[in-house]
Amino acid sequence: MDVSNDLICENLTAVDGVLHFAGQNTADLAQEYGTPLYLMDENRIRRQARVYRDTLQECFGDKGHALYASKACSFKRMYAIMAEEGLGVDVVSAGEIATAHAAGFPMENAYFHSNNKTDFDIAYAMDCGVGTFVVDHPEELTAINAVAGEKGVVQPVMLRITPGIDCHTYEAVNTGKVDSKFGSAIVTGDASRIVKQALDAPNVTLCGFHCHIGSQVFDSSVYIATVDVMVDFLKDMKDTYGYTTEKLDIGGGYGVRYVASEPTIDIAASIREVAAYMKEKVAAAGIAMPHVYMEPGRSIVADAGLTLYIVGAVKKIEGYKNYVSVDGGMTDNPRFALYGSPYTVLPATRLGAARDMTADVVGRCCESGDIIQLDVALPADMARGELLAVLTTGAYHYSMASNYNRIPRPPVVMLRDGASYVAVRRETLEDIVALDE
Ligand code: LLP
Repeated sequence: MDVSNDLICENLTAVDGVLHFAGQNTADLAQEYGTPLYLMDENRIRRQARVYRDTLQECFGDKGHALYASKACSFKRMYAIMAEEGLGVDVVSAGEIATAHAAGFPMENAYFHSNNKTDFDIAYAMDCGVGTFVVDHPEELTAINAVAGEKGVVQPVMLRITPGIDCHTYEAVNTGKVDSKFGSAIVTGDASRIVKQALDAPNVTLCGFHCHIGSQVFDSSVYIATVDVMVDFLKDMKDTYGYTTEKLDIGGGYGVRYVASEPTIDIAASIREVAAYMKEKVAAAGIAMPHVYMEPGRSIVADAGLTLYIVGAVKKIEGYKNYVSVDGGMTDNPRFALYGSPYTVLPATRLGAARDMTADVVGRCCESGDIIQLDVALPADMARGELLAVLTTGAYHYSMASNYNRIPRPPVVMLRDGASYVAVRRETLEDIVALDE
C-alpha cells in the first residue's frame, strides 16, 4: 500500500511500516509516555515561527513583526520558545497572561486581545506589565482608561476594527464580518467613534489598529482585501483626526492541511504578495508606513502536533457500520464535534497494511457525538491494543481540551533534535479531584 499520500507534512515518515514523527518512532514514544499522548515537534514550531518573523522583516525591515496567537496552544514552554525566536504573543485571558508571565516571557511584547476583558483581567494584565491592550469596544476602553488612571499609568492600546470582510471559511471561525461579535465596524461609524474616544482618553495612548478576518484561510486575496479596507481607514483617521497610525496588525488565520486533499500554502510567498500590495496602497494613500504585525496561531503549531491513541474496541455492527474506539476523544480533540473538522487517522504501526475496513473512530465519552472522524479506512483485523495516530493536532487541541467525564488530560511531549521531554505532564486522578472541597 502506498503511504506517501498519508504523510501530509514533511515531519512525517514511514520506517518499516511504523510512523515516525520528527524523526522519532511513535510506537516507542507511546510505550515510554503512555496514551493518549500529544506529541509536538519543537523544530517545526521554530521553523514556522521563523517563516513569519523573517518574511515580515524581509518585507518591512524593522517595521515587520510576528506575534504568536497563543490561544492555539498555550503552556509555559511555548512562550519560552516564542521569546527565544523573537516573536511577541497574543494573549486573551488572565490565564494565558499568567502562563506567559510564569514562563518569563517579556510581557512588553504581549498583546492582550479578547472581546470582553473583565475589570480583574484589566488590572491583572497591567500588574503583569502587558505591553499593549487590543480594545474591542467603547465600554472596555472606558474601563481600561479608568483602571489605568487608578494605577497612575498610561496604557498603550490598539483598537480592534471590523473591516467587513467575509473570509469564506466556516462560520464559527469567521470574525471579520460587520455583524461579528468582535471589534468596532468601519461601515457603521463605530470604528471612527472609538478612535475619537481613545484620542480623548487621558490614561491611554492609541498606537494603532488591529483586525482579524478569520481562520483556516488559504487565499492571499482575503488579506489583500483586508489591507485595502484598513489602509483606507488609516487614511480616513489621518484626514479626520490628524492621527498617524503607528501599528497595524492584520491578524492571523493562514490555513493548514488536515488531510491530503487540502492545499499547502507557501506562507512566505503569500506574505510577500500582501506586503507588496500594502506598500503600494500606503504610498498611494500618502500616509506614513506603519509597523506591520501578523499574529498566526494555527499555522505555527498545527502540523507540529500529532496525537497517539490505543484502540480499545473494534465493534462491527453487521450490515450497519463499524466503530473503532480509542482511549481519548472529544476531551482531547473536540474539533470534529464542534466543526466537523477533517483529520488524517493512521494505523501507526501498520502503515503498509491493506485498509479494507471503513470505521468511525470514536472516543470514550458517554456521548454519541464524541467522534474523532467518520469513515476512516483501517485494516479489517485491527484489534484492541493497536496504536492509532491522528495528524495535525498541534493547534486548538491541548488548548481546547476538557475534563468531561472526569477524564484526565494527556501530557504534551516535545520532540527536539532526536530527544523528547515532557512540557506538560499527564493529569492524574488526584488532579481531577484536587479542586473539590
Ligand atoms: N488573532 C485573533 C484575534 C484571533 O481571534 C485568532 C484566532 C488568531 C489571531 C489566530 O488565528 P489562527 O492563525 O490560529 O487561525 N478553535 C478554532 C479556531 C478559533 C480561532 C480563534 N481565533 C479551531 O479549532 O479551528
